[in-house]
Amino acid sequence: MEVIIKEDYEEISRLAAGIIAGMVRRSPRAVLGLATGGTPVGCYRELVRMHREEDLDFSQIVTFNLDEYVGLPEDHEQSYHRFMWDNLFSHINVAAANVHIPDGNAGDLHEACNDYEMELDEHGGVDIQLLGIGSNGHLAFNEPGSSLGSRTRIKTLTERTRQDNSRFFSTLDEVPKYCVTMGVGTIMESGKLLLLANGGNKAEAIAAAVEGPITASVPASAIQFHPDVTVIMDRAAASKLTREYHSQPHFLEGDKE
Ligand code: F6R
Repeated sequence: MEVIIKEDYEEISRLAAGIIAGMVRRSPRAVLGLATGGTPVGCYRELVRMHREEDLDFSQIVTFNLDEYVGLPEDHEQSYHRFMWDNLFSHINVAAANVHIPDGNAGDLHEACNDYEMELDEHGGVDIQLLGIGSNGHLAFNEPGSSLGSRTRIKTLTERTRQDNSRFFSTLDEVPKYCVTMGVGTIMESGKLLLLANGGNKAEAIAAAVEGPITASVPASAIQFHPDVTVIMDRAAASKLTREYHSQPHFLEGDKE
């Protein structure tokens, strides 16, 4: 696992966007796994800049999002459909037909979850999965206690997550109680994982995920099983880590010389 500690949110966002852009340039038909929430906003802003100023081309890129609330209309201000279009898709040249976000309004949610897994399979799986982390250690919306082998399914949000996300809603009551989320097992099949964290309220969760035992009580700790993980965070999120880490990717092409 590569753990990189940056000075601030801008640096995290630029490095993360650079890694994703590298994948897009190397593999123009790559499948990007995408996340929502406050953490990836800066990364998406930087990808939009690269599209506008550096011709970063998303025309053949396929995307799969991690999760969606159950019962929020797609055009609701806080739906993850809306989030993705507002923060990224409307500003780049991704084809709408290549965008996949779990349907939190499907008549048969179980069937929709199975279909999502099948569609992901048909596209050959995610090449690079962008992730945030919950203050309680959740990965996507796999809350503590989620099976580490789980697949896309309906989950109940914990009170902690609803509290955390209530900052985006007018009242706590408005925060949905249920969601549809890729499973930990689904996420673990991605070619590469890129987990971002900023702020002191993520410090405990990051320490547990990166240095703690692998346990369903901290679903994000499952990343320790994955052979290709990069975790990028700021000093506040890193404040409870105890091992030695670096501020740059540990091997750059120039290092060969
Ligand atoms: C969002 C998701 C969640 C968030 C996590 C952190 O698609 O899967 O796991 O990454 O709740 O949210 P923020 O970034 O708002 O702190």
